Amino acid sequence: MRWIVRGLIGLAGLIVLALVIVYAGSEWVMRKGHAVPEAQIAIPTDQASIAEGARMARIASCRDCHGPNGEGRILFEVPMLGRVAPPPLAQVAAGMTDAELVQAIRQGVHKDGSTLFIMPSHALAHLSDDDTGRIVAWIRTLKPQPSDSKATTSFGPLGRALVLAGMLPAQANSAKLSEAKRPADTGRYFVDVACAACHKLQVDAVMEDGSTKVPALAPMVAAYDPAKLKTLLRTGVGSKPDHGVMSEVARGSFAWFTDQEIEAIQAYLKGEAAKAPPQ
Ligand code: HEC
Ligand code: HEC
Repeated sequence: MRWIVRGLIGLAGLIVLALVIVYAGSEWVMRKGHAVPEAQIAIPTDQASIAEGARMARIASCRDCHGPNGEGRILFEVPMLGRVAPPPLAQVAAGMTDAELVQAIRQGVHKDGSTLFIMPSHALAHLSDDDTGRIVAWIRTLKPQPSDSKATTSFGPLGRALVLAGMLPAQANSAKLSEAKRPADTGRYFVDVACAACHKLQVDAVMEDGSTKVPALAPMVAAYDPAKLKTLLRTGVGSKPDHGVMSEVARGSFAWFTDQEIEAIQAYLKGEAAKAPPQ
C-alpha cells in the first residue's frame, strides 16, 4: 500500500507543478507589455460620420461580438476553459482616451499595453484612420445602460494552457497596416477588414476552436454566382441553408454591405484567384 500512496503523492505533486507552470506562464503572456504605434487620429462629430461609424461597427463585426448596441455579452463560457465576454463598449470607453480606443481596436492592446484576446486585431489593424475615427465617434454616442453585460473575460486552467501554447493567441500586434483614408480599392479593403478575421485568401484555414474549417476565400468567391453571393452575405443562406458561424456573421455584420461593396469584394477576389492556381 505504501508505494501506491507514495505514487499518488508524487502524481499530485506533478499536477500541482504543472498547474503552477501553466498559471505563471500564461500570466506572463497576459501581462507582458507591447510597444504599439501612436494613434493620433481625428474623431469626427457630424451625424453622417457617426452613422457611417455605426455601419462600419457592423461590417467590422464589433456589434456581432459586443452586442448589436454595444451592450456587451458572453460569447462563450465553458468550465475549465473560461469565459469570453466582449465588454459593454460605452462602459469601457468611458475609461479610455480616443487614442487608447484606437490602439485597442487596431493593435489589440489594453491601455497598459497588455494583450487582448479573441478580438481579431490582425484584421481590424487594416481599418483606415478615417473609418476608425468614425467607429470611435459612434462609440462615444453610446451611454452605459443598467442592462449592460457585467461579465468579464477570464481563463480556467485549460484556457490558460491554450494561452501558454499560443493556441489562444495574444492579439497584440505592433505592425501598422492602416492607411489614412479608406482606399479606393474597397474590395481589397473590406476583405482585409471583414473576411480575413477567419478566411485566408488562397488556402483553407481552421477557426480557433481547432475544428471549424474555413474554405480558401479567393477561388470560392471568384466562382460564386454574384446574386447568390449577395444573398449569402445578407441572409447567411448559401449552398446550404445554414453555414454555421458564416451565416451568423453574415446576418450580424455583412447585411450592412451595399451592392457595390459586395461587387467590389467579388471583383478583387476574382483578381486574386487568377493570380494563384487553386491548390
Ligand atoms: C470576435 C469578437 C470581437 C470582435 C469582432 C470585436 N471585439 Fe472588441 N473585444 C472582444 C473581446 C473578447 C474583448 C475582451 C478581450 C480581453 O479582455 O482580452 C474585447 C475588448 C474590446 C475593448 C476593450 C479593450 C480594453 O482595453 O479593455 C474595446 C474598446 C473593444 N473591444 C472594441 C471593439 C471594436 C470597436 C470592434 C470593432 C472594430 C471590436 N471590439 C470587435 C471581442 C471582439
Ligand atoms: C467569423 C468567421 C468568418 C468570417 C468573418 C467570414 N467567413 Fe466566410 N465562412 C466561414 C466559415 C466557417 C465557412 C464555412 C461554412 C460551412 O462549412 O458551411 C465560410 C464559408 C464561406 C463561403 C461559402 C458558402 C457556401 O455556399 O459554401 C463564402 C462564399 C464565404 N464564406 C464568403 C465570405 C466573405 C466574402 C467574407 C467577408 C465579407 C466572409 N466569408 C467572412 C467563416 C467566416
